[in-house]
Amino acid sequence: MNGKVHIMDHPLVAHKLTILRDKNTSVKDFRELVSEIGMLITYEATRDLPLTTKEVETPICKTVAPTLKGKKFAVVPILRAGLGLVDGVLRMVPSARVGHIGMYRDEETLEPHVYFCKMPKDISERDIMIVDPMLATGGSAEAAIAEMKKRGCRNIKLMVLLAAPEGIQHIQETHPDVDIYCGAVDERLNEHGYIVPGLGDAGDRIFGTK
Ligand code: PRP
Ligand code: URA
Repeated sequence: MNGKVHIMDHPLVAHKLTILRDKNTSVKDFRELVSEIGMLITYEATRDLPLTTKEVETPICKTVAPTLKGKKFAVVPILRAGLGLVDGVLRMVPSARVGHIGMYRDEETLEPHVYFCKMPKDISERDIMIVDPMLATGGSAEAAIAEMKKRGCRNIKLMVLLAAPEGIQHIQETHPDVDIYCGAVDERLNEHGYIVPGLGDAGDRIFGTK
C-alpha cells in the first residue's frame, strides 16, 4: 500500500503559498512565510502524536488532562532549502532534535548526491520528519529517506511546501511506507525539473542567492 498524501486544505496555507509564488515577494517575506507554512503543516503532521494524561491543579480544582507522551522526534532538513522549514517545526515541537542532510543535484542529470549527514546519536529511535520546500522529481527526498533508513530509522514522514505529481509518484514507488505532507500539489515539472507553476528555486529565494 502507498504512503498517504496529506494536502493542506486550509485558507491560511493557500494564501501564504500564493505570496510565496509571487516573484516580487522579498527574500525577507519569503523566508518568514516558509517558516509560517512549515509551522502550519507541522500542526497537521503531528496529529497522530500519542498522548497520555497527567494530574494538574487549575485555579479551580485538580483535574486529569492530556499531555504528550514524549515520543522522540527529529526534524531533518535537506540542505539547503530545507533549513527554511526547521524553525517552523521547532516552534511547534520545541524539544525536537535536528539532523542535517546535505544534498546537491547534478545540474545535467538532476541525480542527487549526499555530501553531508550529521544526525543525533539515537536517531534510529526517533520519529523522523524530513523537510524540504520542494518535491520535484523526488530524487532528493528519495535519497534522503534512504539515508535515514540506512541509519535504522523506521517511522519517517516527509514535509514539503509544493509537490509535483511526478515527485509524489516517485516517493510512493520507492518508499511506500512514507506519508507525505504538502502545502499544495502543482501541475507538473518542466524540462529543467522545476515545478510548474511552482515558486522558482526555493533555496535561492530563501537565502537570496540569485
Ligand atoms: C531543491 C529542493 C529539493 C530539490 C527538489 O534543492 O530544495 O531539495 O531541489 O528536487 P528533486 O525533487 O528533483 O530532487 P536544490 O537541489 O535546488 O538545492 P538547494 O536546496 O541548495 O537550493
Ligand atoms: N527545486 C526548486 O527549488 N524548485 C523547483 O521548482 C524544483 C526543484
